[in-house]
Amino acid sequence: MYSEKVMDHFNNPRNVGEIEDASGVGTVGNAKCGDIMRIYLDIDDNGIIKEAKFKTFGCGAAVATSSMATELVKGKTIQEALEITNKAVMEALDGLPPVKVHCSLLAEEAIHAALWDYAQKNNIEIEGLEPPVSDISEHEEEENY
Ligand code: FES
Repeated sequence: MYSEKVMDHFNNPRNVGEIEDASGVGTVGNAKCGDIMRIYLDIDDNGIIKEAKFKTFGCGAAVATSSMATELVKGKTIQEALEITNKAVMEALDGLPPVKVHCSLLAEEAIHAALWDYAQKNNIEIEGLEPPVSDISEHEEEENY
């Protein structure tokens, strides 16, 4: 049912924890399943993501996707990080069962929310970044899955 990579990131999640004085913090949840994910980003003066950490109160797939998402954004520019979709996270994990696709959306949204927080703190606008939602289940009907 789960790929080896999902199991690996669930059993040995990378980047668990918090970043003190993070450049940006994003928290999103899904009221339907009750899962919550928080991602912390440390972004340097050149707009490069130096460090990413997460805390997830959620299912195994949510833990695995947060772990993979934080791995993927490290070393990336803000624009590159924006392009990391839930699909990219799923592909990096060799897929997720259909009922678990929404878990990967939490990871995408939590990254966006952290970038939004960073932009707010620094009074900048990030092209293509939409204001985050705190409960992604409100938007589920608009998504096709
Ligand atoms: Fe909701 Fe996994 S069951 S995030």
